[in-house]
Amino acid sequence: MNATRYGNEPAPPTQPGNGAMRKAEALRQGQAQVLEMITRDEPLCVTMALLMRLIEAQGDGMLCSLMLLEDDQQHVRSCAGPSLPPSYLALLDGLAIGPCAGSCGTAMYRRQPVVVADIMSSPLWAPYLDLVKPYGLRACWSTPIMLKDEQVLGSFAMYYREPRSPGPAELALTAVATHIAGIAIKREKNESELRRHREQLEALVQQRTGQLEASNAELTTALVQLQHTQRELVRTEKLASLGSLVAGVAHELNTPLGNAMLSAGSLVAHAQRIEAAVVQGVLKRSDLRQFLADIAQGGTLLTHNLARINTLIQHFKQLAVDQTTDLRSQFALHALVVRAVDAMSARADMAKHQVEVDIDPAIVMDSYPDALTEVLCNLLDNALMHGLPAGQAGTVRITTGIADGGNIRLALEDSGHGIADELLPRIFDPFFTTRLGQGTSGLGLYVTHNLVTGVLGGHINVESQVGHGTRFLIELPQTASRP
Ligand SMILES: Nc1ncnc2c1ncn2[C@@H]1O[C@H](COP(=O)(O)OP(=O)(O)OP(=O)(O)O)[C@@H](O)[C@H]1O
Ligand SMILES: [Mg+2]
Repeated sequence: MNATRYGNEPAPPTQPGNGAMRKAEALRQGQAQVLEMITRDEPLCVTMALLMRLIEAQGDGMLCSLMLLEDDQQHVRSCAGPSLPPSYLALLDGLAIGPCAGSCGTAMYRRQPVVVADIMSSPLWAPYLDLVKPYGLRACWSTPIMLKDEQVLGSFAMYYREPRSPGPAELALTAVATHIAGIAIKREKNESELRRHREQLEALVQQRTGQLEASNAELTTALVQLQHTQRELVRTEKLASLGSLVAGVAHELNTPLGNAMLSAGSLVAHAQRIEAAVVQGVLKRSDLRQFLADIAQGGTLLTHNLARINTLIQHFKQLAVDQTTDLRSQFALHALVVRAVDAMSARADMAKHQVEVDIDPAIVMDSYPDALTEVLCNLLDNALMHGLPAGQAGTVRITTGIADGGNIRLALEDSGHGIADELLPRIFDPFFTTRLGQGTSGLGLYVTHNLVTGVLGGHINVESQVGHGTRFLIELPQTASRP
């Protein structure tokens, strides 16, 4: 007998008589039922039990069994044997296959059908005689169920209670049984493989989801931490700014105040000296002249220092001024810019430099001219003080354009030193100055920013590169929104 393999066509039933035709019809119908159960994924051993009964019904006294070979390709698992005693099937369960392991164990080992006509006299059964004797089984023909690639899936066996050898009908039935069982076992293996992969995939997805959730939680914590740190930094920086303001204010006021007190003190001393000379009657004309000269000099010094104090205080006061009280009016932008530039040209440090104004004279704005003038003066002042080099000629250009949405785009750029990258983000901060103690308070750009974004309703940006000058870009609505 040849090995029957999955994929082989079952041999056709032989010589059908009347009873044989009924049996063949029952077999056909039974096969269809079994195949349907296979496609419905009914439990393998239930389906195989039905197949065994179907085959048994085709012969007299035939008992069928189906054994599976475990994935280790070494051990047997009882699957179906509906007419065999359950205790007998239990005995076979877990036995190892081998060269002398009964009919089934040997057939699976040899990968060939094994026909034992009489168990009692077969050397293959010798080791199990005592066990099998009580069940009265005598003949056992087993056929391995194999895949095309030679993998053994299990075995199909026919038993009889008397010694006998298979005839053509039994061989044909064996072919049918192994063919169908092969399909069912292969399908079940594929299914469990698929299930395993699905479970692995689900586990992986779950694991990844867990990891993702964990890293999300970590990120959230980090973000909260970051925001906290950021707030801390802002607070610390504000405190530091306040500290430097206080230091700056004290320092700036200290010098002119000290000078003013000195001047006032010396004026008093001069007056006392003259008064004594008058009382003693020794006042000379030259003394009087000297006294008048001293008074004039002291007065000038006093005035100068008080003016400096006044300027500083005006600067500080600007921070608290309610800018919406500024007068609103219609004005030509070109004229306003030219006036602001003219006011600055009075300064000695302006003489060497050139200011170019390129503005369409037709642009008329409805806004706050004082606020805009203040902005321009602050920017021009900065260009002169921080940007343009003291000893050489420099240029400041003031130009306009129209932005998307009809806003006026005003650019003021100087050809000066530029601003270092690390300082750029801080220049609009209150009290930030790189000239602390030199008459500056670091409020110019802070006030400028407030005016542009507040009363003028626009925004301001800066672009600068060290060595390539600085450009302030201001975008303003031509008509400021009503306060
Ligand atoms: N055109 C510029 N070129 C180079 N640096 C500039 C320019 N404009 C501003 N800066 C830098 O920005 C800083 C802040 O400017 P801001 O006008 O706010 O203060 P300040 O000019 O130092 O003092 P204040 O304006 O109160 O007299 C300046 O100290 C300077 O370092
Ligand atoms: Mg300034």
